Amino acid sequence: MHATLILDTQHHRGEIDPRIFSGFLEHMGRAVYEGVYDPESPLADEQGFRRDVIEAIRGLRMPLMRYPGGNFVSTYDWTDGIGPREQRPVRPDYAWKSIETNQFGTDEFMAWCRKADTAPMLAVNLGTKGATEAQALVEYCNMPPGTHWADRRVANGHREPYSVKVWCLGNEMDGPWQAGHVPAMEYARRADQAAKLMRGLDPGIELVLCGSSGRGMKTYMEWDREALEYCWDHVAYVSAHRYSENHRNDTDWFLAEGVEVERIIEDYAGLFAYVRGLKRANKRVFLSFDEWNVWYKAGEMDGKWTRAPHLIEEVYNLEDALVCAQYLNAFIRRADVVKIACIAQIVNIIAPLLTKRDGLLVQSIYHPFAIMAELARGKSLVPMVHCPTYRAGERGEAPVLDVSASLAEDGTLAVFAVNRSRTDDVTLSISLADARADEVHAVRVVTGPDAKAANTWEAPNVIKPEGGTARIVEDGSVTVAVPKLGFVALRAATAAR
Ligand code: AHR
Repeated sequence: MHATLILDTQHHRGEIDPRIFSGFLEHMGRAVYEGVYDPESPLADEQGFRRDVIEAIRGLRMPLMRYPGGNFVSTYDWTDGIGPREQRPVRPDYAWKSIETNQFGTDEFMAWCRKADTAPMLAVNLGTKGATEAQALVEYCNMPPGTHWADRRVANGHREPYSVKVWCLGNEMDGPWQAGHVPAMEYARRADQAAKLMRGLDPGIELVLCGSSGRGMKTYMEWDREALEYCWDHVAYVSAHRYSENHRNDTDWFLAEGVEVERIIEDYAGLFAYVRGLKRANKRVFLSFDEWNVWYKAGEMDGKWTRAPHLIEEVYNLEDALVCAQYLNAFIRRADVVKIACIAQIVNIIAPLLTKRDGLLVQSIYHPFAIMAELARGKSLVPMVHCPTYRAGERGEAPVLDVSASLAEDGTLAVFAVNRSRTDDVTLSISLADARADEVHAVRVVTGPDAKAANTWEAPNVIKPEGGTARIVEDGSVTVAVPKLGFVALRAATAAR
């Protein structure tokens, strides 16, 4: 099969925000305890943090880490998680019916972020708490010494403010499952009040308003419009969440997920333009796609009132990795709309990493993420793709290839392509309208023996990145092989024609 990709260095959607490669860590199951924090592990450092997990997270180059939830945050009292560990209360966690020991809290998270080379993105509880508690957390994290909560931080050993820049105004407040769920207007008032108090203390912070928790919600877009209209002046982003599933076990259908992801982004682009018009505003609001992943195989969400229960420890296969690559492709393509995105989550809970006390398993979805986070730089070029279509089950015809591309200031081009076909390899010919490829620096390929192939503790390297082949043709175009059920990343130097 043959396909062509035409790019023009002047035809782009602006700078790719590196924060689209961010992560999410929730107090749930074995994400925090036994995931990032496990003092009993031989692999833990002097602070009890898993060294191998830190190392692997660094490999994903995540600019932001969303914390502490998720549904967890909607009953969380952040003051439980600070101060001397032996004085911290043990609490029942409403969201996951688990026991929360509070041995890991805000200060531990900040220390972990530093080690993992990431920055905190904190969510405040707007379920059972409100503006006052949210403001107090901003004071604790961002104010210089001299006031009550800032001094508590100092007393806990942290003189310098943490300067947390991005804050989420609650989590999935549109969902009836959420503690403190209310109709849109009530949430909007809550969020607006919290926003005023939070930004009153630190006007430099950026706020994320809770959007819909999924496209299937009855109030999808209606919730978002009401909340955004009310809170417009104070928020920088609206959140979107999506978890992809393949319950019907139809790989062809599943592999067209990227089409749906792009539709969601499109919905929000329309909403932002609409509200901006209503407000006659110059300001722009962007999308924070702060929970996304594949999640449907592991359904256990009841912790049965135990500590660090094994919840939703999804095992990822090749088709899941190809869907994850498509999320990132969509975020790159719509760099004009999506400024933050967080894969949910990072370890043990629906995650690229699984731990046991003395080992770490890198799952399939880790690899496209690591490669794209490393190579996507600069402007998002608009990809003009000519390729055959295939029958994506009930989704009808879908293009065989899903592609995004970036161009860095120094002329380095990166192209990312997913081949959705189960049967055909694709030869992709890439040409630049106003430039030519000079030298291919790298070709990385993620593929495997079949769509369901997965890494396991016994066979941890079934899905891993490999080298690929590309060649520069005399006219300055590049030809690269994209194997069936495969992801390919190409990096090349370009020069003006
Ligand atoms: O990531 C797991 C859960 O999924 C989060 O807590 C919640 O926000 C979403 O529904």
